[in-house]
Amino acid sequence: MTAKIIDGRAVSAAIRSDLKIRVQALAKKGTTPGLAVIMVGANPASAVYVRNKIRACGEVGIRSFQHNFPADADPKAILDLIEELNTRKDTHGILVQLPLPPQFSISEILQTISADKDVDGFHLYNVGGLVVGDTVFPPCTPYGVVKLLEHEGIEIEGKNVVVVGASNIVGKPMALMLMQRDATVAICHAKTRDLAQFTILADILVVAAGKPNLIVPQMVKTGAVVIDVGINRLPDGRLVGDADFEGLKNKVSHITPVPGGVGPMTVTMLLSNTIASAERAA
Ligand code: GUN
Repeated sequence: MTAKIIDGRAVSAAIRSDLKIRVQALAKKGTTPGLAVIMVGANPASAVYVRNKIRACGEVGIRSFQHNFPADADPKAILDLIEELNTRKDTHGILVQLPLPPQFSISEILQTISADKDVDGFHLYNVGGLVVGDTVFPPCTPYGVVKLLEHEGIEIEGKNVVVVGASNIVGKPMALMLMQRDATVAICHAKTRDLAQFTILADILVVAAGKPNLIVPQMVKTGAVVIDVGINRLPDGRLVGDADFEGLKNKVSHITPVPGGVGPMTVTMLLSNTIASAERAA
């Protein structure tokens, strides 16, 4: 079997052209969607992600406001800024790039962002919405995975899904979103014993563990769908996911490449959440 390589860049481009139309419709009502992006310190990966988010905003017509702080910033300064952004009419989304330096309480920062502007979907109100199945802002990466599956016509209902990785940003919300769509979901993580006995059952395997080559062909059922959320920089500079792409592409039905799979979708769904927020405010 030769896998269909799921082209996240192409799916992103299709979604972004719809987003541009929604931005034009908002412009007729006198509204320009606005996203504030707060970054603390100079984590190189975060700097790349933030740059990509800001650039993507410009491409679809979202106004972005970048706020950079030094790594030793006083958390009070960021909390005060968030309080101000919560009240601003030109700002529909507020994003604090994670991770944050150790003097910060991530939960205090995330709970200070107004749930109405929480386009990352990390506020407890939005996490709760996800649990009961009526979230306002689905978290961007798992939302992007669902959109990729929908775009490829991959049915979710009744499927065995295994999610490898139980982070708050990807694994846990991913599992909830797929359960909401009537999949049978198992969540595996770093302490799971004999990972392969779970992954082999998956019709759809979502991997977000941050370990290159964690998923090799003998762990995966023939014809499964593999969604690779991992982004790992190898010592030789290459960017790879968590799955052995070359080994798997002759065994599975669909697989996402790294780069060019899930990554572009994360940014696209951030744009989508920001526009949805502006539409709600308009
Ligand atoms: N760091 C890694 N992924 C994310 C994300 O989706 N949002 C934010 N704010 N920070 C991140």
